[in-house]
Amino acid sequence: MYESHLIDATTCTKCELCVKICPAGIIEKTGNINVSFRKDRTDICIHCGHCMAMCETKSISIEGISYETNFRELPVASVDYRQLMEFLMTRRSVRIFQNKPVTREVVDRILDVISTAPFGVSPDNVEITVITDKSLIEKAVPEMSKIYMQLGKIIKIPALGWLIRRSMSQETTNTLMNFIVPHINKGHYSYSDGIDDIARNAPALFLFHAPKGAEEHTVDAHIYLTYALLAAHSLGLGATAIGLIGPAINQSKSLRTKFRIPAGNEVVETMILGYPKLKFKRAIIRPRKKVAYIS
Ligand SMILES: Cc1cc2nc3c(=O)[nH]c(=O)nc-3n(C[C@H](O)[C@H](O)[C@H](O)COP(=O)(O)O)c2cc1C
Ligand code: SF4
Ligand code: SF4
Repeated sequence: MYESHLIDATTCTKCELCVKICPAGIIEKTGNINVSFRKDRTDICIHCGHCMAMCETKSISIEGISYETNFRELPVASVDYRQLMEFLMTRRSVRIFQNKPVTREVVDRILDVISTAPFGVSPDNVEITVITDKSLIEKAVPEMSKIYMQLGKIIKIPALGWLIRRSMSQETTNTLMNFIVPHINKGHYSYSDGIDDIARNAPALFLFHAPKGAEEHTVDAHIYLTYALLAAHSLGLGATAIGLIGPAINQSKSLRTKFRIPAGNEVVETMILGYPKLKFKRAIIRPRKKVAYIS
C-alpha cells in the first residue's frame, strides 16, 4: 500500500528547506540525523506541494501529488511590472461578441490557468461547468429574465419585499435594492425584443459552483473567476463576470437542471466568454482604492 507523507532518507540531504517552507509545520528535523514528517500533524496538510517543489532531490512523497504529473521545471521568463500593467490595462469587460464559438481547446487553456490559482483549503471544492452550446444559454436567458421581472414586482409589495430582504444578507439586499431593482425599473433584464442584457448573447458561459457550506468556496470561486477573466484576455477572447446569473440558477429547478448543477451545490460566480466584436481605443486610469498606510 502507498504510504503518504514520507521522506526518502537515502536521498534526503537534510537541507531542511522543506521544514522551513511547510506552512502547516508538518515536517521536522529530528535530532541531527533525520528530516521527517510529524505523523501527528499530517492530517492538517493543505496539499500545497511547497515542500515537494522546494526539494532538490525529489525525496518527498505525498499521496495525490506526484513529481511526474504535478510538477514541471520552473519557466525562466517572467512578466515584469510594466508588462503586467500593460496586460491588465488592456483588459476590459467584454459584452459584445462575434458570432464565433469558443472551442474546447480554448476552454482547456483557461482551465489550466485556473489550476495555477491559490485555494483556501485542500481539497478545494469549487467545480466549473463550461457551456459552449450557445443555444442552451439562449434557452436559459428568458427564464432568468422572468425571475428578475417577478422579483421587480414582488419587491414593491411592502410585506413581501420586506420578507425577501430579510431572508438575504445585508450585502445582497444592498446589491438588490441599490443596483438590480433600479436596473429592472429602467427596463433592464426584461428580454424585451429579445435583447439579452443578462448573458449578453455570449457564445460561452462558465459557472463556478460548490457544495453550500464548503470551506472557503466563495473566495476560491472569486479567485478562479479572476484568473479566468485574465486567461481569456491573454488568449484574445473577452469575458465579463456576471453577478445576475448565479442567483437566478440557484433558485430555479429548471435552470439547475439545464446546467446540470449537482444537488446541494450553489453557483457562486459566472463568466460570459467569447471573441470581442469591438476594440477599445484607450485604457482607463482608475484612482487607487481607499488606502490606509500604517508604517
Ligand atoms: C462581482 C461582479 C459582478 C458583475 N456582474 C455583472 C453583470 O451582472 N452584468 C454585467 O454586464 N457586468 C457585470 N460585471 C462587470 C462589471 O460591470 C465591470 O467589471 C465593471 O464595470 C468594470 O469594468 P471593466 O471590467 O471593463 O474594468 C460584474 C463584475 C463583477 C466583479
Ligand atoms: S527538502 Fe528534500 S532534501 Fe531537503 S531536507 Fe527536505 S526532504 Fe531532505
Ligand atoms: S504539501 Fe504543503 S502543507 Fe503538506 S507537508 Fe508539504 S508543504 Fe506542508
